[in-house]
Amino acid sequence: MVVDNMGLDHVAIKVRDIEQTIEFYTDVMNMAVSDRIGDSVAFLRTPAVADQAEHHEMNVTQYSDEELEILEERGELELDLHDFEEELPEDGPPMLPTTGPIYHIAFEVPDYNAITDTVEGLEERNHPIYRGPGRHGPGNNIFLYFPDPDGYPIELTAKMEEPIEVGGRPPKQWPESSETWNVWRKTDDLE
Ligand SMILES: [Fe+2]
Repeated sequence: MVVDNMGLDHVAIKVRDIEQTIEFYTDVMNMAVSDRIGDSVAFLRTPAVADQAEHHEMNVTQYSDEELEILEERGELELDLHDFEEELPEDGPPMLPTTGPIYHIAFEVPDYNAITDTVEGLEERNHPIYRGPGRHGPGNNIFLYFPDPDGYPIELTAKMEEPIEVGGRPPKQWPESSETWNVWRKTDDLE
C-alpha cells in the first residue's frame, strides 16, 4: 500500500461557459459557490444539509480560448443535450452519451422521493433525462442520469448497499445484461 485511509473528495471539470455551469450547479443541483479565482475557476460545495459537505466537492474551470478553438474545430463547441437523448438505445447498459472521457459524476441523495422530485423538476425545465429512475444490480442503488451543460452526465444515487467492511456481502460476478444495469428495467410497469 502506498496511500492509506483514502476517500474520494472532489472532482474537477473543464467547461465551455463557466457562468452557465455555475448557474446549473447552483440552480438545479442546489450547490453553492465557496470561492472563485478570477473569472475562470469556481469551487462548489454540496448543500449545507449534506453533513459531509466541505469547502468544495467540485472545481469547475473555464476552457482556455485555445481549448475552445480546438473544440470549435472539432465541431464540439455547441452542444444539443436533447440530441444525445434521442440517440440513446432503448435497452442495454446505461451507455450514457458523453463529451469526454468522464463517464459520469454521481451525487448521493437520501431516497427514491428525492429522485422522483428531481425528475419532475427536470421535466419542468425541459432538461434531458438520460436514464432512470432505475436500480442497479451491483450496489443495489437507485439511479437517475442527466447531463450538465457540458454534457458531463450527472448521476443521482440513493440507498447504496453497504460494503463488506460494514456488514455487506463479498464480491459477486454479475452477468453482462441490461438487467444487471437496471434490475427494474421496465420502470413504466411500476407506475
Ligand atoms: Fe455510477
